[in-house]
Amino acid sequence: MDKDIERVLVSKEEIDEIAKRLGVILTEEYKDKFPIVIGLLKGCVPFMARLITEIKCHIELGFMDVSSYHGGIESTGDIKIKKDLDIPVQDRHVIITEDIVDTGRTIKVIMDLLKYRGAKSVSVVTLLDKPAGRVVKLDPEYIGVTIPKEFVVGYGLDFDEKYRNLPYVGVLKKEVYSK
Ligand code: PRP
Repeated sequence: MDKDIERVLVSKEEIDEIAKRLGVILTEEYKDKFPIVIGLLKGCVPFMARLITEIKCHIELGFMDVSSYHGGIESTGDIKIKKDLDIPVQDRHVIITEDIVDTGRTIKVIMDLLKYRGAKSVSVVTLLDKPAGRVVKLDPEYIGVTIPKEFVVGYGLDFDEKYRNLPYVGVLKKEVYSK
């Protein structure tokens, strides 16, 4: 897998630091709120798993399987909920956990849905923020690192379902996705 990567953008060590930093902030913010930390599958898995071990207060976990890319390198705006939450969010604080916020469409749809269902508050924590890709107005509350408009893989992010298990985030060589 490493040979397909042009350069490392966020190393494993940096991700560890990010998880620790955001963990401290989220602990302070949510210590008396018993929030639901909602992961949007599948990209959230490595970051969410790392982050929650740094949150030192009670949380509940929830998952939704949401998809927007459908195999390409750009999100389509056609957001599909493939698996819904199995717990009610009414009157609960929720923290949506993402690997990346790009166009912002996925998060916008899910935030609106959770608010509609009566969540007391909805915030977003994301490992990567790509503001240059934004097509809807959305500012995640908790950001690991801001990245340029490049196609990245690893630490949950895929190309054709591959590379999610890389322990870092890297820029994929163009020849790999233009084949
Ligand atoms: C990716 C990523 C985010 C979303 C971000 O998910 O995990 O959920 O796209 O893009 P956006 O801000 O442009 O909406 P994807 O739909 O590829 O599903 P996956 O998590 O299963 O890879």
